[in-house]
Amino acid sequence: MTNRVHIFDTTLRDGEQSPGCSMTVGEKLRMARELVELGVDTLEAGFPIASEGDFEAVDTISREFPSVQVAALARACQLDVDRAIRALDKAKNPRLHTFIATSDIHLKFKLKKTRQQVIEEAVAAVEQARRHVDNVEFSAEDATRTDVDYLIEVCKAVVAAGAQTVNLPDTVGYSIPSEHAALIGQVVQALGDGVIVSVHCHDDLGLAVANSLAAVQAGARQVECTVNGIGERAGNCSLEEIVMAIKVRQDILPFETGIVTSHLYPASQLLTELISFGPQPNKAIVGRNAFAHEAGIHQDGVLKERTTYEIMHPESVGVPESRLVLGKHSGRHALRDRCEHLGYNLTKEQLESVYQRFISAADRKKGVLDEEIGSILREVVDHRARTVN
Ligand code: KIV
Ligand code: ZN
Repeated sequence: MTNRVHIFDTTLRDGEQSPGCSMTVGEKLRMARELVELGVDTLEAGFPIASEGDFEAVDTISREFPSVQVAALARACQLDVDRAIRALDKAKNPRLHTFIATSDIHLKFKLKKTRQQVIEEAVAAVEQARRHVDNVEFSAEDATRTDVDYLIEVCKAVVAAGAQTVNLPDTVGYSIPSEHAALIGQVVQALGDGVIVSVHCHDDLGLAVANSLAAVQAGARQVECTVNGIGERAGNCSLEEIVMAIKVRQDILPFETGIVTSHLYPASQLLTELISFGPQPNKAIVGRNAFAHEAGIHQDGVLKERTTYEIMHPESVGVPESRLVLGKHSGRHALRDRCEHLGYNLTKEQLESVYQRFISAADRKKGVLDEEIGSILREVVDHRARTVN
């Protein structure tokens, strides 16, 4: 089995369909350019039956970016599949992604269909898609709450109908890693070589990345994810987190992706500019504080040797540099370093005097800006100059 993990980005589809995240076609195009530079393997550009805008986004992105594989989503019904086929018409490397729910709870309350009907509709959709597009992915919506024997039966049927990728979404973010790994392992074994098993995890319990990683360890070779983890409700598996977990922990995760990691932060920043919110400050990899050290002991350690408290270089994800945020937990070492950056080489006595003023400012605020440190420095150093003269 190959160690290459295929990154299927759904920022412009699952991500975009969540509150505050909708984008115009022009905005999707800007984001698509960034995703192509980031090196995603598949870019899911929209759900063409959902709106004219989604149709246009798939069509335009397909024309503009012939080098990337563009996916379009369709429910497992003739009208949807037909619309997705038309949206992908100009794509050089199209993928049609069709889905239907397979859990009893969805069958009974949402679809009001029998298991047999669902299998038949899934197979018909894949066959229809395959008549026009070589590359077809099937998703068993709510796979993680589906009876496993039935799930395997559906997967085998759609593979026989021509699907090369079978995606097992944790649609409601219900799974936990050990359980998820067991499910994925069972399906991988049942389908054998030649089929890519994919995962698509939602983050309702904060486990989307952990579940996706567990799935990769169990044999999944495609991960569906989004920049900044945006997506329905609590979001999807965060692209930057799963990619960096694989990169940083090669010792126990000997897998590779095609992602150019130095583009992770720029991609996150662009998305933030395009939608109405950014990642929380403490968000892993791309949050404002992800590489900021405030505790004095940590700052001292980082200044002596950055690996004491940093497991990855900020530059490796495109963050310009790690930031020492000076606050009340910062020590004299970090303060001296910042003063040197600001052009002041202080004596021990001057440093003590600057430190005392700085601590009383830091007590009143959440962080002390360089401007304020500069004004303390001028006060202390000029004051000394005046008293000496
Ligand atoms: O969460 C989900 O089940 C989905 C499918 C349409 C893939 O987004
Ligand atoms: Zn989803």
